[in-house]
Amino acid sequence: MDQYFESYEELDIHQLMLSDKTRVLAYKNAIFNLKEKIQNKIVMDIGAGSGILSILCAQVGAKKVYAVEASMLAKNIEQVSIENNVQDKVEVIHSKVEDICPGSLEKVDIIVSEWMGFYLVHEGMLDSVLFARDNFLHKDGLLFPSIAKLYASPCQIPSMYKFWNNVCGVSMRCMGKDYRKTKSLKPEVLLVNQDDLLAESKLLAWLDLNCVSIEELNLLGGEDYVVVCKEDGRFQGMCIWFAVEFPDGSELSTGPHDEATHWKQTAIVLPEDIEVMRNEPVAFKLELKRDSSYPRRYNMELTLLDAEEVDHDIPCDCHMTKCIVTKKYIDELDGSESHAAESIENCI
Ligand SMILES: C[S@@+](CC[C@H](N)C(=O)[O-])C[C@H]1O[C@@H](n2cnc3c(N)ncnc32)[C@H](O)[C@@H]1O
Ligand SMILES: [Zn+2]
Repeated sequence: MDQYFESYEELDIHQLMLSDKTRVLAYKNAIFNLKEKIQNKIVMDIGAGSGILSILCAQVGAKKVYAVEASMLAKNIEQVSIENNVQDKVEVIHSKVEDICPGSLEKVDIIVSEWMGFYLVHEGMLDSVLFARDNFLHKDGLLFPSIAKLYASPCQIPSMYKFWNNVCGVSMRCMGKDYRKTKSLKPEVLLVNQDDLLAESKLLAWLDLNCVSIEELNLLGGEDYVVVCKEDGRFQGMCIWFAVEFPDGSELSTGPHDEATHWKQTAIVLPEDIEVMRNEPVAFKLELKRDSSYPRRYNMELTLLDAEEVDHDIPCDCHMTKCIVTKKYIDELDGSESHAAESIENCI
């Protein structure tokens, strides 16, 4: 058995996920809000784990739920179904979804899956959901969730910087430098305080799960971005998080402004920080590339760019002359247009 699936046999992991109320309630609320769409329908729960989402779908009246689970945890799902008196609706399939022969199963109306990993795509489980979508879902079937979004914003990370300046009266800045050198080599999962975000976030990726392809997941981000600092501060890392949307429009969001989840946020730590000022533009490129040897992993590459050489949003609030002039021009144009509209209204 694949080590990946073995890791999901630890009940501690399931307790951690099930205790994440924001996560479970986001699915539960979406399932209950859309119960009319689920009633008497056939559902496939991909990576059913403890069976929680399968049971919720059965509770709102699904005709049948295929609970697909590759790990040995599949054995528990049947017991959980009996405990909840939905055993006649939940059919456990102990298999990787990719190993189910497409001809052996009727098409399903709904796919439910909690496939998100750290920074959305870690673990690469979305591939399995897309495989199932292409092989088992009716043409106009529903996906829970149906949209996924990945965000990034420059941030301060006091635990990587400020902490080392004064440890009970002892300065340890030199050790802090070594610590950050190591930490900057791989993404760090941690909670970022919303006050430590230095700018509005940028949307790195917007995935419509109804049509995105597995190949499109090989590279996320990769464009040049400019954000504008909202306060003076120290640029110490890039904070990354995700949100997913359900077909009822509700959202499960894991950013610093949201209720903390077990995914926390992911940060790319800068080995040396950079002082930034209010209205200063920060230009960067951030790529998440699937690792060719370990497709469940991604390599992240953050490149800091020269803000003079990258296109800024229009309008842009940064302190560069070209943006101040453009913004003033647009404001004047808006002003004269609304003035003209007012005059026309007065004439009428
Ligand atoms: C993040 S957990 C979610 C468990 C459960 N749905 C929940 O919400 O608590 C993902 C589960 O999917 C299973 N899984 C991952 N890829 C799978 C695949 N290709 N086929 C079947 N099960 C898979 C894992 O073993 C794990 O139990
Ligand atoms: Zn600008």
